[in-house]
Amino acid sequence: MAVRRILTYPDTVLRERAEAVTNIDGKTQELIDDMIQTMYQAPGVGLASNQVGEPCRIISCDTSPKDEPNDLVVLINPEIVETDGFIVYEEGCLSVIDYTADVKRAECITVKGLDREGNPVLLKKEGLPAIVLQHEIDHLDGMLFIDRISTLKRELYKRRLKKLLKQRESPRL
Ligand code: NI
Repeated sequence: MAVRRILTYPDTVLRERAEAVTNIDGKTQELIDDMIQTMYQAPGVGLASNQVGEPCRIISCDTSPKDEPNDLVVLINPEIVETDGFIVYEEGCLSVIDYTADVKRAECITVKGLDREGNPVLLKKEGLPAIVLQHEIDHLDGMLFIDRISTLKRELYKRRLKKLLKQRESPRL
């Protein structure tokens, strides 16, 4: 197992639609183990495979509080099949540096996909776990939460990020 580097916006890999997994092999298992370790180490409540530069369709999530047993979910080729209601939640992302914003999503969802052994699963989630699943599935489609906020807010963030990245580039004297 290894902690992988998480790509950050505006890396173009994050913008590509990830391809479905057609063969679950040893490499897939290794990637999943790495994703889980990377997610917990970050720490984050969710991670999509293309965030670590692997453009296949795998997500991991765990929204359980720190002092409670884990509630790890790994899904291969996840797909939302049903949604209900709306919820607004302040989201951040391991791939979006130094920014959070309110995002409106479905409050309840049903997701189908495969577990890491390749068995079909159907999950019904609501609240935070549902939000995280939608956020991670967006990643697989090349979408970030900043695509779901107003153009004005996004442009302001882009400008701030540009300055921030420039500062990081310049030598510290
Ligand atoms: Ni994210």
